[in-house]
Amino acid sequence: MGFKLESVVPWGRSLDEYTRMFDLSSDDLQKNILDCGGGPASFNVEMTQNGGHIISCDPIYRLSVQEIEQRIQETYNVIVEGVRANYDDYVWEQARSPDALGQIRLKAMHRFLQDFPAGLATNRYQVAELPELPFRDRQFDLALCGYLLFTYSDHLSQFFHLSSIRELCRVATEVRIFPLLTISGEPSPFLPIAIQELQQQGYHVEIRTVPYEFQKGGNQMLLCHQQNCHP
Ligand SMILES: C[S@@+](CC[C@H](N)C(=O)[O-])C[C@H]1O[C@@H](n2cnc3c(N)ncnc32)[C@H](O)[C@@H]1O
Repeated sequence: MGFKLESVVPWGRSLDEYTRMFDLSSDDLQKNILDCGGGPASFNVEMTQNGGHIISCDPIYRLSVQEIEQRIQETYNVIVEGVRANYDDYVWEQARSPDALGQIRLKAMHRFLQDFPAGLATNRYQVAELPELPFRDRQFDLALCGYLLFTYSDHLSQFFHLSSIRELCRVATEVRIFPLLTISGEPSPFLPIAIQELQQQGYHVEIRTVPYEFQKGGNQMLLCHQQNCHP
């Protein structure tokens, strides 16, 4: 049956994990990036410290530091015990155990929490949510969306997925979405229709294998860009 969650949870990863999840090259890291559904990931603060250009958006950014911290604490046991109960569904290489995984994630999320007030003040963190984003057409070179679309196929409808992917393609020249599996590790039922719609609209679509695998078989991302744009 696999791991199930009742709702979308705040749970954040690091720059190192993002780099592998989205197969980001050193050129990619120089781009003007949107992290959509960035949540409590430390990608934004680490990118900023490295001189990168990044905006993260998420509805959770309307909460205070204390409120987000509380949501993280509530999520911690649910995730750590959930992956422990489904141990064989995961690859235990980077994190050697569910507890080690929890500690790695907490470290990233604490980095985010420390940075959140400063990043909010400078608009690096913006309150916004799919399927409608408050950004200009092609404002970004690259939009990333990790552990939201496809992951939450049991919670978010096909209509939401298609509208959201269209919106990401509007605001960025290139879009990357990872992973392509649901929380319980099944291929998302919405992937084939999303690919079909993107191709019909003239986008170049690629499913790329990436050097990151935590859910077994979850080492692929969807990448799309306009046919005439070669990022
Ligand atoms: C599991 S977290 C992933 C965080 C980060 N992308 C990562 O991979 O570490 C999912 C995030 O999606 C956010 N979210 C939920 N609904 C959203 C929406 N409609 N648009 C944008 N983000 C949303 C949640 O608040 C949460 O922070």
